[in-house]
Amino acid sequence: MDDKKIIFSGVQPSGVLTIGNYLGAVKNWVELQEEYNCLFSIVDLHAITVQQEPAKLRQRCMEFLALYLACGLDPEKCLLFFQSHVPQHAELSWALTCTTYMGELSRMTQFKDKTRNKQDANIGAGLFNYPVLMAADILLYQTDLVPVGVDQKQHLELARNLAERFNRIYGDVFKVPEPYIPKMGAKIMSLADPTKKMSKSDENVNSYISVIDDADTIIRKIKRAVTDSDNRIIRGEGKEGIENLMTIYGSMTGRSYEEIEQEFEGKGYGEFKAAVGEAVAEGLKDVREKYNYLLQNKDYLKEVAKNGSDNAYKMAARTLRKVHRKLGFVDRF
Ligand code: TYM
Repeated sequence: MDDKKIIFSGVQPSGVLTIGNYLGAVKNWVELQEEYNCLFSIVDLHAITVQQEPAKLRQRCMEFLALYLACGLDPEKCLLFFQSHVPQHAELSWALTCTTYMGELSRMTQFKDKTRNKQDANIGAGLFNYPVLMAADILLYQTDLVPVGVDQKQHLELARNLAERFNRIYGDVFKVPEPYIPKMGAKIMSLADPTKKMSKSDENVNSYISVIDDADTIIRKIKRAVTDSDNRIIRGEGKEGIENLMTIYGSMTGRSYEEIEQEFEGKGYGEFKAAVGEAVAEGLKDVREKYNYLLQNKDYLKEVAKNGSDNAYKMAARTLRKVHRKLGFVDRF
């Protein structure tokens, strides 16, 4: 292996891939694959923390692989694979579970959000343990950097703590990973309620933009986005909707907030929203076409996933072997 840094990240195959996922994570992956050893997974083990329809999940996993490629990930430059094809994820997750405290998992804000108003009896243990599996994903590959949106920051801190704890108790095995969170686009908000994160499983289709929405749909959804009645394109109190559109526009065009404020000084929301819609449609224009083409090429998708998991498996097996030795397990005869 060369001495390039290692990057790991993943998306859950639930709902659709939104511009939140794209701007917060996948777009950066496309840049990072040029410089680093990257592994990007479709984290199907995470998806079953909530009940899935098996046939739909299977189909969605293939669609997500096609989406990864359509967004610009190149299997010549990075490893793309399904998490369930590398069994070490689940195995390491167990070893880490045994050094994780109930208290630290109870403090995870995403867990608290997802279980608010639910009785303990109805909360799946998988949902509770989810951040440990995520730590295993990362630590298995001796990952240096984890490019994610800001909502994953707390999970990443746990991964760092678990790595440090394991190293302290059993001796050095894991690299302690660093988060890689974009300056702009780390948290894209819902178009229907700009105080809430844009989410791929939102029931309201107007709250998000899918990376394969067509240009008209994108422009229409941006036009309908909830803003305020002030009509100035600036950030500030009560202007979350406009700030969100500025973020989307800036992330798509590479412009800063200051540049956007200058560009739209004295202009109204109609004009601004049209420009945002155009920029998003332009930025995503090839994704839809590539995606449809790739979905017709199942054999190619399978080949990409097989190559990805074969290589990921080798890296994962190396770490897990070390972990088992440190834990005191007897080598396989
Ligand atoms: P997931 O599937 O919810 O989201 C995938 C990625 O998209 C980012 N993201 C956003 N970024 C900006 N604005 C938003 N509205 C937005 N919504 C989502 C997320 O931060 C993430 O980077 N637990 C993870 C998946 C995972 C993972 C891992 C990630 C499993 N194992 C190991 C990194 C490393 C999740 O549910 O992401």
